[in-house]
Amino acid sequence: MITVRPEMPGDEDAIRQVNLRAFGRDLEGKRVDLIRGSRFWVPGLSMVALDGDNIVGHVLLSAAMLVNDHEAMSILSLVPVAVLPEYQGRGIGTKMIQCALESAKSTDFPAVVVMGHPGYYQRFGFIKASDKGIYAPFTVPEEVYMVLELIPNALDKVTGTVRYPPCFSAL
Ligand SMILES: CC(C)(COP(=O)(O)OP(=O)(O)OC[C@H]1O[C@@H](n2cnc3c(N)ncnc32)[C@H](O)[C@@H]1OP(=O)(O)O)[C@@H](O)C(=O)NCCC(=O)NCCS
Repeated sequence: MITVRPEMPGDEDAIRQVNLRAFGRDLEGKRVDLIRGSRFWVPGLSMVALDGDNIVGHVLLSAAMLVNDHEAMSILSLVPVAVLPEYQGRGIGTKMIQCALESAKSTDFPAVVVMGHPGYYQRFGFIKASDKGIYAPFTVPEEVYMVLELIPNALDKVTGTVRYPPCFSAL
């Protein structure tokens, strides 16, 4: 049976491995390490999926900023999410993301942004970010950049561009 829980001390190596195997490179795992050591880390919002005692999946929600000419607001970004190749397609990614979003609802963060496949993220309630006047800081097809309000209508009066932590571009 697959269970999901927040990351605990001692999980770091296994999280690195899951990201390495899922993405076929070490970039995402290194980013997770950098975020963990930064002020953008939000305790309780790094989740792991376990098969028995073995970590087979990982998802991270961490802080980013939504900025416009007048204000800056802290939001969350969902990246990365990774499941070991041999465990993919069994609903583990879905379960981890649902758990992480559920935990995020008990924080003060108003929203989460994600870049990815619309067909995958729509199941969690993500919609096209540009429909809310929210844009990525890089060029990306509008439909793959999405947002989910954690607090209903939190984004009704806020628009802007997302700014990711410096550690996202440090590698
Ligand atoms: C993306 C990922 C985390 C999904 O985890 P998972 O446990 O395989 O996903 P689930 O079993 O919950 O969901 C499977 C669904 O996602 C779809 N899916 C999986 N990966 C996808 C992808 N890269 N693009 C589009 N759809 C994808 C499957 O078609 C399936 O759809 P369905 O439920 O409608 O049948 C996993 O495939 C993975 O680790 N991929 C490599 C790393 C990656 O690309 N991460 C995302 C970017 S941060």
